[in-house]
Amino acid sequence: MANGQKPDPCSFIIFGVTGDLAHRLVIPALYNLAATNLLPEKFCIVGVARKGMSSTELTDSLMKGLRQFATRKVDEALAKRLLECVTCIEADPKDPSSFDHLKAQLERLEVARTTGGNRLFYLATPPGAFAPIARELGRVGLLKEQDGAWRRLVVEKPFGTDLASAKALNSELQKLMDEHQIYRIDHYLGKETVQNILVLRFANGMFEPIWNRNHIDHIQITVDEKLGVGHRGSFYDSTGALRDMVPNHLFQLLSLVAMEPPIRFDAHSVRSEKADVLAAIQTQSEQEALHNSVRGQYRGGRIGDTEIEDYRKTEDVKAGSTTETYAALKLTIDNWRWAGVPFYLRTGKALGIKRTEIAIKFKQAPFAMFRDTPIDRLSQNYLVISTEPTEGIELQFNTKVPGPSINIDGVEMKFRYKDYFKAEPATGYETLIYDCMIGDNILFQRADSVEAGWQAVQPFLNAWHNAGAKGLKIYDAGTEGPEEADELLAHDGRSWRKLT
Ligand SMILES: NC(=O)c1ccc[n+]([C@@H]2O[C@H](COP(=O)([O-])OP(=O)(O)OC[C@H]3O[C@@H](n4cnc5c(N)ncnc54)[C@H](OP(=O)(O)O)[C@@H]3O)[C@@H](O)[C@H]2O)c1
Repeated sequence: MANGQKPDPCSFIIFGVTGDLAHRLVIPALYNLAATNLLPEKFCIVGVARKGMSSTELTDSLMKGLRQFATRKVDEALAKRLLECVTCIEADPKDPSSFDHLKAQLERLEVARTTGGNRLFYLATPPGAFAPIARELGRVGLLKEQDGAWRRLVVEKPFGTDLASAKALNSELQKLMDEHQIYRIDHYLGKETVQNILVLRFANGMFEPIWNRNHIDHIQITVDEKLGVGHRGSFYDSTGALRDMVPNHLFQLLSLVAMEPPIRFDAHSVRSEKADVLAAIQTQSEQEALHNSVRGQYRGGRIGDTEIEDYRKTEDVKAGSTTETYAALKLTIDNWRWAGVPFYLRTGKALGIKRTEIAIKFKQAPFAMFRDTPIDRLSQNYLVISTEPTEGIELQFNTKVPGPSINIDGVEMKFRYKDYFKAEPATGYETLIYDCMIGDNILFQRADSVEAGWQAVQPFLNAWHNAGAKGLKIYDAGTEGPEEADELLAHDGRSWRKLT
């Protein structure tokens, strides 16, 4: 995590520089780092595209993107200084000789810019290109760390499409470089609140003693989106809500909230605890997976002023597609701390509200001393950590309603980041890119975590694939998802927290 030190001089090489991610998030994040004086003094950006363009054309395009997507007011002079160091180089993994050429040009640039040979390769391309690009970089020797210079590779999500493909990609990358050089990025981990989960749990004396099966009834993790699939029909239809969100984003949240305290705040200790808790998620049989899950697909509806069309009518979605746009799962963790505590996860598109939260529901007070009063049932206490729509933490507890008789109501105590800290809005990528440059991989996924995540979702993928259309629930856009998701919790005498 960012600690203010200036990174070493380096070249920042973006594959897929002409794409959406580079324009919308990576360059605006670099701009925010420049604005806070957290880029190296000696620095250059190399944009790699399969079809050549001049460096001026690329700079113009990135400047346009920056003006459109910057999270803070653009200081034109600063933006110009940042983008002056952009060079465009043509290379296509299908044409090996282009990587020999890339190497020669890069080495010349490194001398001219005195970056000392430190290289950060950012794979901002579709996932199918990750391995071919890495292979070519390895073949020409660009990934080899030597003479004190570091070489790092940032790999975007999704990392694999199932357990077998994630293992294959890990094994391919690990043949080319050491694990410490690989930065598997999940931009959720760049959010303040997500990082704050560790601080909340381990820098306060009051939470950890009750953070276990003796006091916690269950945990709900929700990542709901209002948007439909939009123009990403082709990608989404072959992916679905489970693959797109659960093994990466939702499991990052789950692992931070459920991990054991690391012995030190360093990458090895933190990542080992995260991997251990993911590996402790009980692997379900396909039958159990069907019983413990709900999948849905939206049909058209209205969300506010926006008309959402049927998922199946979306451009590039197969007619009769059975891809889920909503997933709800019940998982359990087989360890001493969490035995018997269910983790309910839900995520979906075209829902009535955009909300990302972890809700920790505590057990009811053990003794009902209010027996002879109008109160028949106490509501349970919730601790809610939310990242969308606002970053913050809230605690729900019971209090007496003013008046002569004993009436109890649940009230909320709210902390919002923006009320206390005057931070500029950010893309979420700044911290992560900065951490890559200083060589801190605490917030990046290690190979074993990625595989443990896929291991846990694989029975659901298999069961849903084999069931086809059977069991796919249709929900209206703008609702909270299929009603069957409520039944998943109702079976256990529980209910989802009402989202507002
Ligand atoms: N966009 C986002 O908001 C977002 C958010 C989180 C994660 N991601 C991940 O980030 C990556 C990039 O996303 P994106 O939306 O920017 O993708 P994109 O726009 O579809 O593609 C980015 C660029 O990759 C290059 N490319 C395409 N196919 C290639 C191939 N076979 N070999 C080498 N280069 C190829 C293309 O550039 P040239 O034709 O110029 O070479 C293209 O402009 C994806 O893995 C995505 O899952 C994206």
